[in-house]
Amino acid sequence: MKVPSNGARVEISHGLDFKILSFSAGKRKCPGAPLGVTLVLMALARLFHCFNWASPKGLNPHEVDTREVYGMTMPKAGPLIAIARPRLPKHLYE
Ligand code: HEM
Repeated sequence: MKVPSNGARVEISHGLDFKILSFSAGKRKCPGAPLGVTLVLMALARLFHCFNWASPKGLNPHEVDTREVYGMTMPKAGPLIAIARPRLPKHLYE
């Protein structure tokens, strides 16, 4: 579920608007969508909990290159480069 800055919610795999189709739609849509969303959220939560993130060269967040390549899927045009600094006690990363 994506929550835009205006607080409105966009359903990603069901609902009426179909703005994002990460899990396809219809009869052959992904039956694992709830688990998939949970796994992705848990992975992101770990990354945000364990590290402080910064862009290289002091770029502001809105200056990060978010261009995409159009096709069957939409990968980023260039790799995301980010600096991760541990924010928890050292022994938790061993
Ligand atoms: C973020 C994670 C996931 C994404 C983005 C994703 C995406 C998709 C998409 C787009 C399809 C439809 C493919 C098509 O149109 O033919 C699909 C189908 C399917 N997915 Fe996922 N999926 C994810 C996770 C999972 C998980 C966790 C499971 C099982 C535990 C799963 C099981 C399936 C199965 C069995 C199908 C085939 C459904 C059918 O053809 O009737 N997926 N998935």
